[in-house]
Amino acid sequence: MAERARRKVGVLISGRGSNMAALVEAARAADCPFEIAIVASDKPDAAGLAWASEQGIATFAQSPKGMPKAEYEARIDAALRSAGVELIALAGYMRLLSPAFVDRWGGRIVNIHPSLLPKYKGLDTHARAIAAGDAVAGCSVHLVTAELDAGTVLGQAEVTIEPGDTAEALAARVLVEEHRLYPRILAEFVRTMTDDPLARVRSLALGLPETSESNEDGQPSFTVADTPFARMTGDSALKVRSDDGWQTLSLAGDIDWTLVGDAIARGWELTAPPALLEAGGR
Ligand code: GAR
Repeated sequence: MAERARRKVGVLISGRGSNMAALVEAARAADCPFEIAIVASDKPDAAGLAWASEQGIATFAQSPKGMPKAEYEARIDAALRSAGVELIALAGYMRLLSPAFVDRWGGRIVNIHPSLLPKYKGLDTHARAIAAGDAVAGCSVHLVTAELDAGTVLGQAEVTIEPGDTAEALAARVLVEEHRLYPRILAEFVRTMTDDPLARVRSLALGLPETSESNEDGQPSFTVADTPFARMTGDSALKVRSDDGWQTLSLAGDIDWTLVGDAIARGWELTAPPALLEAGGR
């Protein structure tokens, strides 16, 4: 059987990059479905950049200081694209991506977060879990949407909180699990996206704000505000709401995923209530 090309992943980091290093190590395995094409950072002195460079991986640094966010993100975007990146993995990247950036990479950005989402979005997750008296903490790998730490969870690992635990001690134990979880879930995600068009449609549709999946006559259907904007018909076609009503896209053979992603996003736009569009939407 012809060997399938590995999916090119771009990793964004802001600091030491231990999760990025775990992805790099995992990608050394012959059967790993992804390779790390580039490591990019908003912090030119991020320790992880130097490490990646020593490993022979392309790196890119761009400080956002002194420029509009759109300009900063356009530079990151251009670096990722010129490295042939198909999927972005955030690994301790401490900036919120703009809705426009998330939209451009629709359904193809994943992140690791040090809590059992939906609990403890944002910062200080371990201290908050301890203060709340939780018995377990952990980490989550999730799809990135424009809303902070809110996209579909792809996988989680739990870590017991011990009596007298400190945030630092707990963080260290969770980090060990992060390094196991992230490569495993990223590999699963890449395999599913490669082998299963429905999985890719699902990640594109559910990557848009306030969407959910339901079942209509045995077929997956994607809704926003309880109104369908895309649904599968048979194994290899997708119906998407369009300017003229509904259009049918083939999901057989070579699929133009940029076109499918744009059609799904347009279907969402035509269906989402005005308040959602005004709030920034996609
Ligand atoms: C990790 O614990 C990661 O889960 C967390 O930052 C740390 C980065 O460490 N990410 C977030 O808090 C994102 N909201 P690393 O640079 O060694 O991978």
